[in-house]
Amino acid sequence: MTHTTRRLDLGAIAYGGDYNPEQWPEEVWEEDVALMREAGVNLVSLGIFSWARLEPRPGEFDFGPLDRIIELLHANGIRIDLATPTASAPAWFLAANPTVRPVTADGRVLGYGARQTYCPSSPEYAAAAARITSELARRYAGHPAIVLWHIHNEYGCHVSRCYCEQSVLAFREWLTDRYKTVEALNAAWGTAFWGQHYGGFDEVDAPRDAPTEPNPAQQLDFRRFSSDALLRLYRAERDIVRALDPDVPITTNFMAGLSDNLDLWDWAREVDLVATDHYLSAAKTDNQIGLALSADLTRSLAGGEPWLLMEHSTSAVNWQARNIAKRPGEMARNSLAHVARGADGVLFFQWRASRAGAEKYHSAMLPHAGTGTRLWREVTALGADLAALGGLRGSRVRAEVALVWDWESCWGLQLGFKPTVDLDFRERIDAYYERFWRAGITVDFVHPGADLSGYRLVVAPSMYVTRTAWAENLRGYVRDGGTLVASYFTGIVDENDAVHLGGYPGALRDILGVRGEEFLPLREGEQTGLAADSDAGAGIRDGRATRWAEDLALDGASAVLRHADGPAAGRPAVTRHGFGAGAAWYVATAPDPATLDAVLRAACADAGVRQPSGQAEDVERVRRTADDGTVFDVLINHGPAEAVVEAQGRELLRAGGGAGGESGDGAVDGRLSVPAGEVRVLVIDPR
Ligand code: GLA
Repeated sequence: MTHTTRRLDLGAIAYGGDYNPEQWPEEVWEEDVALMREAGVNLVSLGIFSWARLEPRPGEFDFGPLDRIIELLHANGIRIDLATPTASAPAWFLAANPTVRPVTADGRVLGYGARQTYCPSSPEYAAAAARITSELARRYAGHPAIVLWHIHNEYGCHVSRCYCEQSVLAFREWLTDRYKTVEALNAAWGTAFWGQHYGGFDEVDAPRDAPTEPNPAQQLDFRRFSSDALLRLYRAERDIVRALDPDVPITTNFMAGLSDNLDLWDWAREVDLVATDHYLSAAKTDNQIGLALSADLTRSLAGGEPWLLMEHSTSAVNWQARNIAKRPGEMARNSLAHVARGADGVLFFQWRASRAGAEKYHSAMLPHAGTGTRLWREVTALGADLAALGGLRGSRVRAEVALVWDWESCWGLQLGFKPTVDLDFRERIDAYYERFWRAGITVDFVHPGADLSGYRLVVAPSMYVTRTAWAENLRGYVRDGGTLVASYFTGIVDENDAVHLGGYPGALRDILGVRGEEFLPLREGEQTGLAADSDAGAGIRDGRATRWAEDLALDGASAVLRHADGPAAGRPAVTRHGFGAGAAWYVATAPDPATLDAVLRAACADAGVRQPSGQAEDVERVRRTADDGTVFDVLINHGPAEAVVEAQGRELLRAGGGAGGESGDGAVDGRLSVPAGEVRVLVIDPR
């Protein structure tokens, strides 16, 4: 999936962060670089917001300060991930081009003074971005310190969809390219409904705020168009850099699992190295699960290749309602959890905490209070920990289970006018992911059209949009011996949000061996009983269900659980169907966690998925395997008490105790104790 020729190889796990020296007088830079060396920093992302300094007036460039900081970093052996500065255009550009300002769906024009103030379809912005990118790449191509190019910053983070006139013109072009004739568009969008028939592409608008729910297919296409408009900008900058500096890898930082604005399956094909940013949600106390999900998703986007954590925070962020500081050891646990799941680099936003501006209360590697701080001690300890883990570079995480993840389904589920507001892409993904995380079963994420043959079990918790070709892909997978678990409201519509007819879930009915006549969603807070069928199998007991039920009939499948009461009383709630050489399970409700756990364990057993034993509940455990067969076993205790697990190997690292890590060298044979909040990395040599 990703290019294999242009690789980032620092000879160590990458460690560092966004470096914004333009916020500080040059006297500070020497201290910065000295402290970076002390902390073990080997890579910084430079120049992300420097456009106004580099091009102070239109077409006038000043690279003096950037030359100096690049040379200073180079002289100190710190490598550079050089950014194109296009995420924040200079004030002169907006003053001269006021029509570039983005417009929201309700017609508000966004002003200058923050960042990302541009319409993704603006030709003026594209031209200005291309010019500064060319100047930058021409000047620094071939510089030995520059080992990576960082295009822009978090595309679509603030403005992912623009509804200005320029965007409407670009949308029409995109639609003309997709449909060729307006009659094809009318058919795809179902414009016979509510009398929306179009006589020409020039009559089509963006799905602005309308009197009521706009055409769902139009909304879906606008999401696709908007992801593509940003991707076009990325490609334009990348191609400029590539032409001038062909051997250096190019990336941009995704927000995998945090933002749903870009179809990252498309984007991931366009980068040499997949990089992502991850921030904890301060309101949650089980952030380790969401973090793991983002990391697994990022690894999957990278096609299993190592990836880079481009940003996370040393402690609190500043943009949530209550910004909770990380507890001692938490930063190390977070960082090493990303490494465990395939990251070959750990970077932060940002190196030195800002004194002014919107993000001055955001934590950094070097806090306002300086080096005499817990945070600084943990930052230097983490640098040492990562240095000890250099041998993990390039090793892979292997999964037997894949969860289907598709942005089209995410966007489709966000459309209004559904059977219930309780249908949410992430809600079901998270419910299923958590069960696997707690069982210690590592999962990949897959696109529904991907080759599934390498997985024993494929789970589709939220595959609402199901193209016919994707259903065929799943059909072939199960027929050839794979095991599928599908949740409710999966396989319902095609790519235009048009229902697959003949009973639900239309696209998967034959595979699942069921036929749904009517959706019977539950009221808010309502629960129904689930009764285990006589041949449900070991481990599956009576339980409870919320959110969803269906008037479902068996059509070849057998019932595993049935609704005991409620609108679907007596109807199947969980079914299993032998299909070809494989099996397909249908979970037609939202079971309580213990019941979902039992169902997934039964499906894992059905599929021959190895289920780890000798685990401790709070210990996250992931393995990376090197090409020569060496296994790295990473164990992270997120709980409040010491945990003992079954383990073998040699201890490579002890970390996360708050006071800094130490390299272990003891042999572990049978049992390993992991103190509360700490991390252990074991090596198992190839036999
Ligand atoms: C994003 C951006 C950074 C910074 C951080 C703050 O990741 O890329 O510039 O704003 O958020 O958390």
